[in-house]
Amino acid sequence: MAKKFHTAPMKYPTIAIDGPAASGKGTLARLIAQKLGYAHLDTGSLYRAVAFEVLEAGGTPSATEDAVRGAETLAQKIAGGDNNILNNQKLRSDEIAQAASVVATIQPVRDRLVMLQRDFAQNPGKGFNGAVLDGRDIGTVICPKANVKLFVIADIEVRAERRMKELQSKGIQATTGTVLEDMRARDARDKERKASPLKPAEDAVMLDTSHLSESEVLAKALEIIRAKIPGPTIS
Ligand code: DC
Repeated sequence: MAKKFHTAPMKYPTIAIDGPAASGKGTLARLIAQKLGYAHLDTGSLYRAVAFEVLEAGGTPSATEDAVRGAETLAQKIAGGDNNILNNQKLRSDEIAQAASVVATIQPVRDRLVMLQRDFAQNPGKGFNGAVLDGRDIGTVICPKANVKLFVIADIEVRAERRMKELQSKGIQATTGTVLEDMRARDARDKERKASPLKPAEDAVMLDTSHLSESEVLAKALEIIRAKIPGPTIS
């Protein structure tokens, strides 16, 4: 698939939320979607699902051929109507997170997932007023014309603490040291890769969630959205 940016005007309002792992972007995206009646796509789950397909097939996430095959298998399953594939709890493990950040460095894998994501933004589905997508490159590559772009950040210690709590709530044993180390490795891979690295779009609004509660972050985000998307009043 040719690498080109989507320049057509957006039919539905789109909100792009990017940021590093455990910055709070996923929770924020979900809450915004609920509040505004928008469809939500956690694009990280696509890369996680590719990694899952690769490992299930006995492949190597860093091998381009294996990773592209994984992306193809996933795209076919989604096209075939397998809507639950992204909700598989197995995608939430740290092993899959690491493997996802490896397959995500491979440009042909990203290319295979671009259209899926843009289609979601343009066709959020019956009954939805727009779309919220969260990930690493939504504001820069997937939806450069998004109505609102938020770049969510938090101190790495705060993010590691959040990830620890998430793992513990699932009964997964981990130490703060390992979680921090894994997070640094994943941050480095996400920011330093050549293919669509994690970085704020020029017109993104930065949102630091380090010392804010979920509802405070939501309130700040809604204020930004209100200023950029005219329409029904958001209470
Ligand atoms: O948001 P997450 O932790 O579920 O994402 C898993 C990995 O997927 C992350 O380390 C990088 C990759 N990713 C990406 O490269 N681009 C996106 N839009 C979303 C995720």
